[in-house]
Amino acid sequence: MEETIVIKGGNRLEGEIHLQGSKNSSLPVLAATVLVDGVSVIHNCPDLTDVTAAVKILEHLGCKVTREGDTLTVDSRFVTGNSIPDSLMREMRSSIVFLGSVLGRTGQARLSSPGGCEIGLRPIDLHISSLKAMGVVIDESRGYVSCTKDKVRRDTVISLSFPSVGATENIILAGALGRGRTVILNAAREPEIRDLADFLNSCGCRVELTNQGTVIIDAVEKAHGTRHRIIPDRIVALTYLSAVAVSGGDVLITNTDTDDYRTVLPFFQRAGCEIADSKKQIRIKMNRRPRALDDIRTMPYPGFPTDAQAALMAVACFAKGTSVIVENIFEGRFKHVGELVRMGAKIKLEGRVALIDGVETLYGTRVECPDLRAGAALVVAGLAARGVTTVCSLKHIDRGYENIEACLKRVGADIERVQNAESKMQN
Ligand code: EPZ
Repeated sequence: MEETIVIKGGNRLEGEIHLQGSKNSSLPVLAATVLVDGVSVIHNCPDLTDVTAAVKILEHLGCKVTREGDTLTVDSRFVTGNSIPDSLMREMRSSIVFLGSVLGRTGQARLSSPGGCEIGLRPIDLHISSLKAMGVVIDESRGYVSCTKDKVRRDTVISLSFPSVGATENIILAGALGRGRTVILNAAREPEIRDLADFLNSCGCRVELTNQGTVIIDAVEKAHGTRHRIIPDRIVALTYLSAVAVSGGDVLITNTDTDDYRTVLPFFQRAGCEIADSKKQIRIKMNRRPRALDDIRTMPYPGFPTDAQAALMAVACFAKGTSVIVENIFEGRFKHVGELVRMGAKIKLEGRVALIDGVETLYGTRVECPDLRAGAALVVAGLAARGVTTVCSLKHIDRGYENIEACLKRVGADIERVQNAESKMQN
């Protein structure tokens, strides 16, 4: 039976949201537990379908995983496998991050090639070329990537042509155990990379991040068990800030770390939001129609995060004036535009550029989530739309948002998750 989220728009949002842990940190950290000859206790790990998919892969590899609330305990003393079948890889595209850790622990890895996804082709050429530079023998054929780590490690310097998050993570994971030094130039600087390094260093590994986007990994013999707390989810925080920006209100977000998205806050302030940023908490007040968002250009960290582009576009749809959004990271990341236009938004696309002429009102209707962040943007738009919005294909949203409807309901949204919604479109 299909679940849908049904929103009756127009409520102001008031109250407190306790932010979930980061999906994009949980996944590489869970992959990194494969390197650990011991038990890893991971706190603040969100309950998401992507995390469930990662746990299935860990169990397939021989790890024992238990969950108690937001704490996952991973016993990876007996890693028996080094291959991940298509069925498990297809559940979550970013499973490619297991390549480095399976290889690092067992010396071999055989993964089904991750396909593209809704937002783009998602090639892994930087992952492959980097691992080859580290001396890994790789065969890519018949939809599988098979890797063997050579015995004698030599020191390696890898200069990434693009600061790929996943490639940076895979290089770190593949170089953490064994012998030799791996240096990554032009590495990704996202907070999730820092969190992965913190986890590995707490296991006795040696991963150093410099301010110039260089990562230095000195391989160690063994990684021991540890306790680690996943950083808060910066993209979910920006999604909830967008919800207040369109609905109006006064919301406090706790369990956050505004250092991870401080460069984005000026966009909310220029739109007319009042922001009180005290690092671990952030309070947003909004009592007017948003002003237009001047030129958002998505960039690698610390630039504007591509994952927040859809939510801020939802804000732009209601704004007074014309907003410009340029999506520089993924070629398929405007899938929310079609659905927003169906709600009455005025958006023109020219390649990677979106021109949004803000309107006073969007109108509720039935909308389909095309992908994770687009789905969240449709929820944001539904909160301020006139009438009822029914959001379908929730499997995308559930990959990255823990109880999005419960969080928003708690601050006053008229929102519920229903089974097989009878359309409430009469008004
Ligand atoms: C991570 O994806 C995140 N996913 C994405 O979040 C996020 O949008 C992205 O980083 C950018 O910040 C996870 O952490 C699980 P990339 P990743 O490698 O690692 C090109 C979400 O919504 N590229 O930095 O796949 C690629 O095509 C998700 O939570 C190559 O060309 O991102 C893209 O244009 C979506 N070759 C750009 O780099 C490669 O080998 C950024 O990709 C690798 C990447």
